[in-house]
Amino acid sequence: MQRRRWQAGKRMNNIVLCGFMGCGKSTVGKIIARKTGRRFVDMDAEIEKKTGRKIAEIFAEQGEEGFREMEHAVCADLAGRSNLVIAAGGGALTFRRNVTLFKGKDTIVLLDVPLERIRHRLRNDRVRPLLQRPDKEAVMVALYKKRRPLYRAAADVTIKGKNTPLKTAYAVMEAVGCAPGEDQPKKLDRNGLK
Ligand code: S3P
Repeated sequence: MQRRRWQAGKRMNNIVLCGFMGCGKSTVGKIIARKTGRRFVDMDAEIEKKTGRKIAEIFAEQGEEGFREMEHAVCADLAGRSNLVIAAGGGALTFRRNVTLFKGKDTIVLLDVPLERIRHRLRNDRVRPLLQRPDKEAVMVALYKKRRPLYRAAADVTIKGKNTPLKTAYAVMEAVGCAPGEDQPKKLDRNGLK
């Protein structure tokens, strides 16, 4: 039986997931996309596709400033589209010019994950350019503290992201009013599974 999709076929605004590196934007975003019939887009993957380069290469060759310009261009592109679930880069929505592109048109959702959990998830990270340094720990804490209020100000909705990805995804869908009736599990078990 074909699954009923929430507002399938209608033009829908985007759901933009924001939050610190490692908060689960991509994992949760993919679930929401699957459940709601929207397309999932990872902002960093879009930047890599557009430039033909890895995020780490862009940082190495053009610095963070160069990266932020590309990120802004991708934000503008995505804000002009609809029916997407967007996993924003961890820094993207700390810039007002990017928030402005989505605000009012799309729904910005903060996945608010405690620092301790983020720290644990990122402990072995070898990919994110901002964290490849000896004082990684201090940088992470300072960035987290500086950014959290910015995320909160940008977001239309804040979801505590300490549950399983599936539960978090359902919490987001419910909060933004796009929980698909037939896709909604009758009851979740302790692991967030049907
Ligand atoms: C960044 C987060 C990364 C990526 C880039 C910069 C940041 O995305 O955009 O390394 O400034 O926090 P994720 O949040 O997906 O790791």
